[in-house]
Formats: sequence, C-alpha cells, structure tokens
Amino acid sequence: MVDGLIEKISRRKFLGAAAATAAGVMIVKPEAVRGSAANSAVRLGILGCGGRGTAVGTGFVDNTNTRVVALADLFADQLAAAHKHFDEHQAAKGYAAIDPAQLFQGPRAYEQIAASKEVDFILVTTPPYFHPHHLETVVAAGKHVYCEKPVAIDVPGAKRVMRIGEQAQGKLSLEVGFQIRKAPPHVELVKRIHGGALGKIGCGLAYYYCGHIDRPEWPGASAVEKRLRNWVWDRALSGDIIVEQNIHVIDMCNWTLQGHPESAVGGGGRKLRPDTGDCWDNFNLVFTYPGQVQVSFGSTQFNDPAFDAATRFFGTKGNSEVHYDYRVFIVGAEPWDAGLGPAPGSTQFSAAGTFKGSLDQADSEKQKWFVESITSGEFHNQAAQGAESALSAMLGRTAAYTGKLVTWDELLRSEEVLDPNIDISKLA
Ligand SMILES: NC(=O)c1ccc[n+]([C@@H]2O[C@H](COP(=O)([O-])OP(=O)(O)OC[C@H]3O[C@@H](n4cnc5c(N)ncnc54)[C@H](O)[C@@H]3O)[C@@H](O)[C@H]2O)c1
Repeated sequence: MVDGLIEKISRRKFLGAAAATAAGVMIVKPEAVRGSAANSAVRLGILGCGGRGTAVGTGFVDNTNTRVVALADLFADQLAAAHKHFDEHQAAKGYAAIDPAQLFQGPRAYEQIAASKEVDFILVTTPPYFHPHHLETVVAAGKHVYCEKPVAIDVPGAKRVMRIGEQAQGKLSLEVGFQIRKAPPHVELVKRIHGGALGKIGCGLAYYYCGHIDRPEWPGASAVEKRLRNWVWDRALSGDIIVEQNIHVIDMCNWTLQGHPESAVGGGGRKLRPDTGDCWDNFNLVFTYPGQVQVSFGSTQFNDPAFDAATRFFGTKGNSEVHYDYRVFIVGAEPWDAGLGPAPGSTQFSAAGTFKGSLDQADSEKQKWFVESITSGEFHNQAAQGAESALSAMLGRTAAYTGKLVTWDELLRSEEVLDPNIDISKLA
C-alpha cells in the first residue's frame, strides 16, 4: 500500500489541480446554497488562531469572498485575541460578528470545528506535529482544507498525509501552504527555467538565513504549556527548523528541478540559540537531485535578523537567482528580470510569512486560487506534493542528525515517530 503511494509521488500524481469528477463531490456554490448575494461568502473556520492563522485568515477575508465564521484553539487567550481581531476586521466589511457557538476551545476544539455545519473550509494553522491528525479529521468531516506546511514532521506522518490525499481526491480541495508557488515573479521564473532558459542545469544553491524567532514569556504557564506555546523551538512539535521553516526553499528546489532529492549528506548543530528548546540553529547539506544535480543548502536561525531566503540554479546557458525580499532574475543567453529593485533594507523576517518584495502577491494569489477551486469544483489536491517536500526536508534532517549520506529509499523505510509526549487533555 505504502509502496504504491510512494510510487505515486514518483509518477507525480495529484501534483496539479484535479477535476471534481468522482461521486460525492462537494462543490460550494455559495449563492445557490444560501440564496442571496449578501449571504454568499464562502465560510472559513480557522483551526490554530496564532500568527499565521490570523494572517492567512485575514488575507482570505480581504482577497476573496470569504467570511471567517468559526475559530478553534487549544488556548483561551489565543482564541479570544483572534475573535476580537476578526470581529473588528469583518465589522468594517459589514459582516456579522462570529456566532459564539462557533468558538471552540480546548483539546477537542479541532473535532468540534471539523464537525461544524457552518463552515465550508478549514485553515489548519496549528503546530506541525498536529497536522496529519488535524488534516485527517477535517477531511473525514468532508470539509475543504488549506493546511499549512509542513504537512508532517516524520515519515509515517507523511505517508498518512498521502493516504488522506487519496481519500480527498476528487471530493474536496486540499491545499498546502507553499505560497511561493503562486508568487507571480517566481511562477514566471520557473516557467522560463522549465522552458530551457538556463540550458542543462548542472548545480544549485538554496539557503534560508533567519534570525532567532522570539516568543512571549507566557507568565504563569506550566512547563508543558510553555513547550506547546513555544513549539517553534521544539523538535518533536516542529520537526526542527529544516522541516518547519527551511522547507520553503527545499520546496522551491523540488518545483524548479521537477523532482525530489535522491540523497543528502551534511551536518549542522545547535550552538548559538538562546532559547530553552532543542531545535538546531544551523544546517549545511548537499542534496543530490536526479541527473547528479547537486544543490548546496544552508540555513540558520540564531543571528540578528539579517533575513535572506534564496535559490540559485546554474546551467549551460545561464543562471537564475531568486530572493524572497527582492530580486528574481536570470542572467545568460535568455536574460530576464522580474523588475524588483535591489533590497531597500527590507531584509526583515516575518514570523507570519507576510513578506514584501517578490512574495508580495504570493498569499493573495494563492487564496484566490484556492477559493476559486472550491466554488468552481475544480478541486486541488496537494497532499502528495506537500508530503514530498516534507520528506525532502526530512531527508536533509536525517543526514545532518546521523552525519551520514542518506538516500531517499532509506528515508522512506524510516518508522521513527517524533513524539513530544504531551497529553493535551491534561491542559483542558
Ligand atoms: N507559509 C508560511 O509562510 C508560514 C509562515 C508562518 C507559519 N507557518 C506555519 O503555520 C503554522 C502555525 O504557525 P504560527 O506561526 O501561526 O504558530 P503560532 O504559535 O502563532 O500559532 C499556533 C496556534 O495553534 C494553537 N494550538 C496549538 N496546539 C493546538 C491544538 N492541539 N489544537 C488547537 N490549537 C492548537 C496555539 O495556541 C496557537 O494559537 C505552522 O505549521 C507554521 O510552520 C507558515
């Protein structure tokens, strides 16, 4: 079964939009369903009301005909802050306040929002450890879902997500939060590379250099609660920085090179982070893609915020260079420049992922594309693609942790489960 699923990754099934042809299709035609234009917005429930959930939820409201109608979070203060934010933000658009019956708090909040009859789609923005289980619950409840990356933090979790993708196929839209794939300058650049603008690609470079991610003090919180609230410092809750954060540029490599790495080798460590967690603060690896295309990869998460995330690819006809915050261009026989200026001191990391520069339109384009998939019935299914990128990042993590060259096939045999050993029912 699993081998078949892995084969599907290789054969690149589910990687694009999938037409809604199967029985049991749930197409949301809001006007038809709810009768009036005033009542026609697609209804969003947010599971995990922190920085990203609030930023992406707000983006859906601003960029599409979407209304936030339900919120769910483990913690009451997080839920209350998001409730206040969305009631205020949506009041300015003439939307009604969120029904208090659609506010779900506690360890079972994910099940309650999934079961709500008031929502059409759910944004999963909880910490990565929970993603496979939350995704499974939402899909089983028949809701469209936009799940943040990484879809999983270990190999069994990634395989589980692929199975969930099979269940959703043709019935629901299942999107994964790699917004860069909808950023117009990046889309154009990758199209040109796929069209041969670089000639034969020989090698590449990818890096994600970022400052330390500070978290609030959380006065009065227990040690366990602090771990959960500071999940981004915790390997078993986040997957470590390479799977949680650096995955964006690894996904960019997979997109550009149209595949996944066959092996990885390298190292890294934890030397300079000031926090109490156990995540590493740097990774330095070589990923080998099909055709012996080697990509040097580096990342940090400890220094002052001299943020830069980038990829470069070198071919027989030219080379490409992409940065989150500024230029996106190709030099060589087929030169092209997205026309973004040099970095105007804009190298400021955004914890919520709301970058300026070349990613300006990434989130808004992705949000429009996703809502259109729901209302048109031309559903997306990015489960396998999301799992493939998560596995690619896990390949690098495993190579760095073991200090050995690790192949894709070896990685896929891993049964290791990252478990934070936290009983969240005790937090109720
Ligand atoms: N695509 C991007 O650019 C981007 C940017 C930032 C974050 N993210 C991703 O978004 C996700 C959330 O990140 P964030 O920065 O918003 O974190 P956050 O800590 O700000 O928010 C997480 C929220 O989930 C809640 N939560 C924790 N466990 C829960 C549970 N079991 N059930 C319900 N709620 C729970 C927390 O209380 C918190 O409100 C992560 O997967 C992260 O990698 C993506």
